[in-house]
Amino acid sequence: MTNILILGGTTEARQLAGKLAARADLAVTLSLAGRTESPIAQGVPLRVGGFGGAQGLAAYLKETGTALLIDATHPYAARISANAAEAAGQAGVPILALRRPSWEPVAGDRWTLVDSVAEAATALGTAPRRVFLAIGRQEAGAFEAAPQHHYLIRSVDPVEPKLAVPDAIYLLARGPFPEADERALLESHGIEAIVSKNSGGEATYGKIAAARALGIDVIMVRRPSVPDVPSADAVDQLAAKVDHLFEPVAERGV
Ligand SMILES: NC(=O)c1ccc[n+]([C@@H]2O[C@H](COP(=O)([O-])OP(=O)(O)OC[C@H]3O[C@@H](n4cnc5c(N)ncnc54)[C@H](OP(=O)(O)O)[C@@H]3O)[C@@H](O)[C@H]2O)c1
Repeated sequence: MTNILILGGTTEARQLAGKLAARADLAVTLSLAGRTESPIAQGVPLRVGGFGGAQGLAAYLKETGTALLIDATHPYAARISANAAEAAGQAGVPILALRRPSWEPVAGDRWTLVDSVAEAATALGTAPRRVFLAIGRQEAGAFEAAPQHHYLIRSVDPVEPKLAVPDAIYLLARGPFPEADERALLESHGIEAIVSKNSGGEATYGKIAAARALGIDVIMVRRPSVPDVPSADAVDQLAAKVDHLFEPVAERGV
C-alpha cells in the first residue's frame, strides 16, 4: 500500500480523498485542523489537530511512511501550506498542492483590494455602513476596530466571543451559497458593502455575482502568498498527477 496524507479542510480535499481512496493500492488519510465543531463526513480515515509545526509534520510523515503529501487546504491557510512545503523537504517526501484559482474581477464589479482583514475594516470608511462579513469567524474580531458599522456576520460555527460592536447580526450557515439566495440575503439586510476573501471556486461565488448585480461594494482581501510547489487547479488534474506518480493497479471492489 502507498500511504498518502491529504491536508484538508476544503470541499476539494474531501472530493480528492474520495477519488484516491477508490484505488485499492492507496491508503489515504485526510487531516483536519479541528476548527469546525461538526465537520461533514469525509468518507476516508481522518486525523484531527495540528502536528506541532513543520517539524511535527515531518516527523509524522516519517513515522507513518507517507509516500506523498498533498496540500489541499484553503487558500488563506498560509501557515499550514508553508509548513507542508518545509516538512516535505525535511522528510524527503514529494508534495503536490491543490491551488484553487482566484476569482478575477469582471465588468461591473466594485472591488477594493486590501492585504488583510484589518485593512478591510479601515477600507470600509468612517461613515456607518451596512456590511456583510463573509470571511469566516477566525478573524471577525478585527472589525471591533470599526464599531460604527452595522454587521451581518456569517460563519459555519458561532463567533465566540461576540464582537464588541453595538450592532451585529449573526448567521450560521455552511455553503454552497447560490447567487439567488445571496441576492435575497443582501437585499433583505440592505447590505451596502461585503468583506470577502478571494476564495475562488463556485461554492461561495454567489455573493460576488449578486454584489455585481446589485452594485454593492466588495472589499476583497488579497490571498496570502504560499510556497511554489508542484500543483494542480482542480481535483481531477491532481488525481491524474497522483496516477502519474503511482500507476494505478486496480480499483477497489464494489
Ligand atoms: N483560513 C480560512 O479562511 C479557511 C477557510 C476554510 C477552511 N479553512 C481550513 O481550516 C483549516 C485551518 O485554517 P487556518 O487558517 O487556521 O490555517 P493556518 O493558519 O494555515 O494553520 C494554523 C495551524 O493549524 C494547523 N492546521 C491547519 N490546517 C491543518 C490541517 N489540515 N491538518 C492539521 N493541522 C492543520 C497547523 O498546526 P500545527 O502547526 O500545529 O501543525 C497550522 O500551523 C485548514 O485546514 C483550512 O483548509 C480555512
